[in-house]
Amino acid sequence: MTPTKSRRTRPLTGTIAVPGDKSISHRAVMLAALSSGTSTIGGANRGEDVERTLAAVEALGATVSAPDRSSIVKVEGWGAGGPSEPQGVVDAGNSGTTVRILLGLIAGLKGHAVISGDASLSARPMLRVVAPLRAMGAVIDGRAHGDRLPLSIRGGPLQGFDHHLEIASAQVKSALLLAGLQASGTTSVTEPVRSRDHTENMLRAAGVTLDMGPTTVGVTGGQRPLAMRWDVPGDISSAMYLLAGAALLEGSDLLVTGVGLNPTRTGALRVLQKMGADLSTDPSGTASGEPVADIRIRASQLHGCVVEGASIPSLIDEIPVLAIVASQAEGETVFEAVGELRAKETDRLAAIAGGLRALGGEAEVAGDRLIIKGPTALRGGKVDSLGDHRMAMSFAIAGLVSDSTITVENWSCVQTSFPTFLEVLGRAQGRNR
Ligand code: S3P
Repeated sequence: MTPTKSRRTRPLTGTIAVPGDKSISHRAVMLAALSSGTSTIGGANRGEDVERTLAAVEALGATVSAPDRSSIVKVEGWGAGGPSEPQGVVDAGNSGTTVRILLGLIAGLKGHAVISGDASLSARPMLRVVAPLRAMGAVIDGRAHGDRLPLSIRGGPLQGFDHHLEIASAQVKSALLLAGLQASGTTSVTEPVRSRDHTENMLRAAGVTLDMGPTTVGVTGGQRPLAMRWDVPGDISSAMYLLAGAALLEGSDLLVTGVGLNPTRTGALRVLQKMGADLSTDPSGTASGEPVADIRIRASQLHGCVVEGASIPSLIDEIPVLAIVASQAEGETVFEAVGELRAKETDRLAAIAGGLRALGGEAEVAGDRLIIKGPTALRGGKVDSLGDHRMAMSFAIAGLVSDSTITVENWSCVQTSFPTFLEVLGRAQGRNR
């Protein structure tokens, strides 16, 4: 289905909820796989990426019960015996989180495994996780000397190691911590800026002791997470499309309930507020050891701002939709140090700038900075998502405020994280109430 929306679409109002957090869902499945016993994951994201993780842990010996469309998933872990050698190639599809964290999860595998992915994932860098795992003792090879899928891994005894990451990455950090659980001695990971810390929170909730510093986390091997009941909060990254639409569309007053507000993920809310958004949060409890809240937003006049490099890890996946917001805000918005966007599902820097310009917006990439000038009247037309779910949904939000229809080509990639996007958007527009 292709979304076609035009200017002066109805405001976004009422109360909606979004699917479960994708990052937390991946982690709940993987920690469950490591444990001895059965974990129940409530509110699990059932998009294609998490399905890949479920299929992967099943291929490696976990028992998975995940009825179609149910948000309750059960995983019985492989426990002390460890993962078993998979019979076929493990296909991670489009999911960077699946392949990168999985590599750490199976670095101690007694046997051999091959991991592949789709064309987009096969073009993404893997050495950032492969090199440190090799340093711990895993034998990993693949295309481009192990920097590209397919990768072949022969696990084995691992030794703890102190890693310093050049680029903040929750995927790499998580992989190394999970490998560290299976290694002798202590494994520590230091990042230039702290990335999302779901793995740390969840490991501690599952009884693992971690040594936490501001940007360093250490784990001693020989610990095993407990089988648990996980409750997954709504995904802030998915909520952001609706919040952005409501911030822009006159007359909007929208409440998004049950959203995970881990501070390492909420940078986009802070940017919206800095731009003048009328946004408030009302705490509603915790889920999986993380704060949860309802978010209310009303349309308001927005102005550009500088989004500093140190905040980028806390909003890395929200930059495409923030760029759409920036195109409608008064003045210049500068996103600093966003070079990492080139290594996502597509080159998001090129996709944002090219897509916005094709729609009549003013966007420029200068080195590792993205500069957007607003407000610009976006015209309609065709934009290609390039198979990237976050680009597809961001351009759909652009379609809410464009002069005429925006048609997003290659729309089906929204299945990756937010299969019900159009349904939820329609509900906020008062269509299915
Ligand atoms: C994720 C971490 C981020 C993010 C990705 C999900 C995670 O990637 O962009 O969508 O769940 O750990 P990096 O860790 O590579 O920054």
